[in-house]
Order: sequence, then structure tokens, then C-alpha cells
Amino acid sequence: MSLLEQLFNLNGQVAIVTGGTGVLGGAIARGLAGAGAAVGVLGRRREQAEAVAAQIVAGGGQALALAADVLDNAQLEAARDTILAHWGRIDILINAAGGNQPSATLPPGQSFFDLPVEGLQGVIALNLQGTLLPSQVFGAVLVRGGAGVIVNVSSMAAQRAMTRVIGYGLAKAAVENATRWLAVELSRSFGAGLRVNAIAPGFFIGEQNRALLLNPDGTLTARGQTIIDHTPAGRFGRPEELLSTLVWLCGPGASFVNGVVIPVDGGFSAFSGV
Ligand SMILES: NC(=O)c1ccc[n+]([C@@H]2O[C@H](COP(=O)([O-])OP(=O)(O)OC[C@H]3O[C@@H](n4cnc5c(N)ncnc54)[C@H](OP(=O)(O)O)[C@@H]3O)[C@@H](O)[C@H]2O)c1
Repeated sequence: MSLLEQLFNLNGQVAIVTGGTGVLGGAIARGLAGAGAAVGVLGRRREQAEAVAAQIVAGGGQALALAADVLDNAQLEAARDTILAHWGRIDILINAAGGNQPSATLPPGQSFFDLPVEGLQGVIALNLQGTLLPSQVFGAVLVRGGAGVIVNVSSMAAQRAMTRVIGYGLAKAAVENATRWLAVELSRSFGAGLRVNAIAPGFFIGEQNRALLLNPDGTLTARGQTIIDHTPAGRFGRPEELLSTLVWLCGPGASFVNGVVIPVDGGFSAFSGV
């Protein structure tokens, strides 16, 4: 095996991707399988989870569809039991379920003072609790051998104010904080081989943000254009462009990388806008 293959090798590893039914999570699930992991594809939509799992199996990989809500402990525990019955272990958890929600987005023409604070609860629950609960349910198995990896999915909205999406930014900022806290806690309490990191994607067309970025005819919304203008790469990302960072974070090549958030953003976070 070449050095490159050793550093990025996930053979024999068992991974769970929450939000594996989505645009980014689906690409991540296929990417981990391509690097050798057996992958549990988790989302509420069973048929979509089965479709992603079938693609992986058709490509020669191993996959299982897991229908579960990341906010429902009993459903997560059932998914955990299914994985353990099939593969007997969990080595990698990718917390990709999440996204923005209309109830937490400031409508055009309205101000912060019109925003019902209750509207924020749903998006905070999905992105924060929806990261913490799977980390507890799957993480309790993952830590058993003293080695394993969690990768959370943050966003550009975590670090810098992004107009309109206050609840999403709050939640992702908390996800970044939880990433650092868990990195310290798990490695100190359960084994130095445990690592928790995050990726912060720039802008990709997913289902949850499509209507904010693209008009029905596929042209850019004003917001989509502003984003492209502030992305030195001059375009949205392609989901597959997350994979090398993701596979690296999960594999032996990142054995001394713990508690960090890696932007994969075409330069968005580096650019002042001037
Ligand atoms: N697209 C971007 O530009 C971008 C940028 C930065 C960060 N992100 C983050 O990347 C992640 C994936 O986003 P995406 O763009 O790929 O969006 P997407 O295509 O809408 O996927 C969202 C995923 O979340 C899952 N999900 C939502 N609520 C869930 C729940 N209660 N329980 C279980 N799964 C749930 C959905 O699955 P089901 O519907 O099957 O439940 C779906 O798989 C999110 O965390 C998002 O915040 C995206």
C-alpha cells in the first residue's frame, strides 16, 4: 500500500452519516464508502436512505439504510442496534443532518424586532441537539475501543454574521464550540485515539438552502449572487469537493488533529469583500 493509501485508508471502519439522505451527506456517505468504510446512511426518509445505500452497494461498497430522526433518542438507539447487529462496531460518526429553516429566517422587509424567538428553537434543536444526541447514542459505542472519530458539519454562518439566518448561525456556532469541548473530553476521558473535528463548508446547493440561492429557473437570487461575489473561487462548491478533507479527518493521516474546524469554502472565509 502506498503512503497516500495508508493515510486515507478507512478499510474495516464502520461509519454512520446522519443526513446521509441529503446532498452533502449523501456525497460524504459515498466518499467514506469509496475509502473503504462500511456506511450507515441515516435520515428520516427511508426510501432516500435506501437509494443512497443501494448506490454504495452497486459501487462495490457496504452500506445500510437507517431511517431515524436525529431528535428522537429511541429511533437513534434502534439505528445503533441495527448497525451493531450487522457490523458489531462504530468507528466514525459524521453529523451532517441539519440546515436552515424558514421559521428562523428573517423574511425580506422585516426586522429583528419582528422575529418570534420561538421560531429559532426549531433550527437550534435540529443543528445543535441533532448533533449532540447522535454523538451520545453512537458515541457511547464509538469510545469503547479508545479510538474513533466524530466529524461535525458547521457553516460559514458560525463565525461571521450572515444576514437573515440568525438561528442557523447561533446553532452552528454552538456546534463548533461542542466540537472543541468534545474533542477535549472524549480524548482525555476515554482514550487518546478519540478525535472530534468539524468541517465548515462554504456554499453548496443543498435542499435546505436551494430557494435562498437559486430562483425556480436556476438563475441566482440576489443573495446567491452576493455569495458568489464573496467567494474567490467564483462558484458554489461541488459536494465531492468536501471528500478529501472529510476522509483525511476520519483516517490515520489525521491522527494528531483534534478539536479543529476546517473551512472548505473556495476562499469565502478568507475574503474581506474588498
Ligand atoms: N449546502 C450548504 O451550502 C451548506 C453549507 C454549510 C453547511 N451545510 C450543512 O451541511 C449539512 C447538510 O446540508 P445539505 O446542504 O446537504 O442539505 P440537505 O440536502 O437539505 O440535507 C439535509 C439533511 O438533513 C437531514 N435531516 C434534516 N432533519 C433531520 C432530522 N430531524 N433527522 C434526521 N435527519 C434530518 C435530511 O434528511 P431527511 O430529510 O431524510 O431526514 C437531509 O439528509 C447541514 O448540516 C447543513 O447545515 C450546508
